[in-house]
Amino acid sequence: MADSGRPDDRGEVRIHDSLDELATELVDYIAELSEMSVKERGFFAIALSGGSLISLLGKLCEAPYNRTVDWAKWHIFWVDERVVAKNHTDSNYKLAKDGLLSKVPVVPGHVYSINDNVSAEEAASEYEFVLRQLVRSRTVSVSESSDCPKFDLILLGMGPDGHVASLFPHHAALSEKDEWVTFITDSPKPPPERITFTLPVINSASNVAVVVTGSSKAEAIHLAIDDVASDCALPARMVRPANGKLVWFLDRSAASKLAVSQPDE
Ligand code: 6PG
Repeated sequence: MADSGRPDDRGEVRIHDSLDELATELVDYIAELSEMSVKERGFFAIALSGGSLISLLGKLCEAPYNRTVDWAKWHIFWVDERVVAKNHTDSNYKLAKDGLLSKVPVVPGHVYSINDNVSAEEAASEYEFVLRQLVRSRTVSVSESSDCPKFDLILLGMGPDGHVASLFPHHAALSEKDEWVTFITDSPKPPPERITFTLPVINSASNVAVVVTGSSKAEAIHLAIDDVASDCALPARMVRPANGKLVWFLDRSAASKLAVSQPDE
């Protein structure tokens, strides 16, 4: 059974006993949001991260989701991408294609991968240009409080250092306020060249889910969610959707240092 922590400004915390249980609840959550968005807007604009997250989405390729999800209405983006060829093992596009997108009937024209023939800087500005067009046509909604795109769902992972997307601790990209998509060429996690959504875009989404497993991330999860010093500049702690809903999908190991997961004395 999943424990649900109290919802507060740090979001709703869902802790799972096993990876299988986490994966089941995660795909249920995604399928529900997809149904709601398609009903309300006619589209489901979802942005994926890389890393271990994709392996937890495999159940979407199985019954009942492979038949019940309205795949033709999905528009698929990347929160961050490594600037490598699309067929490179480091490519987040390749990871999602092999693990999910090639196994469900998404529309190829609705899959927005980066241009892998240009520099990181150009790839970021082209990706932002594509986003601007889709916001104009309202395929991606627009935030009421800023001009940022309002994704129906942004899925994030988190590194042991507390990074999300390709927003790393103490990196200048963390404070980017004007661009929707920026680039870095010195990622501490290889490969070094990446593009990434900026915090204003992440925090404009209708729904953000941060999916984190494993004990190597327990300390960062504690710093990201618990009441700690307010000057803590961990990227994961800066994820605070202004008008949206934040949910943390954790396993017991990742949640092991979390105050909200400890039984009351
Ligand atoms: C990437 C990411 C990155 C990832 C975290 C967690 O492309 O590297 O999008 O933010 O989600 O590093 O990765 P793991 O789940 O594999 O640890």
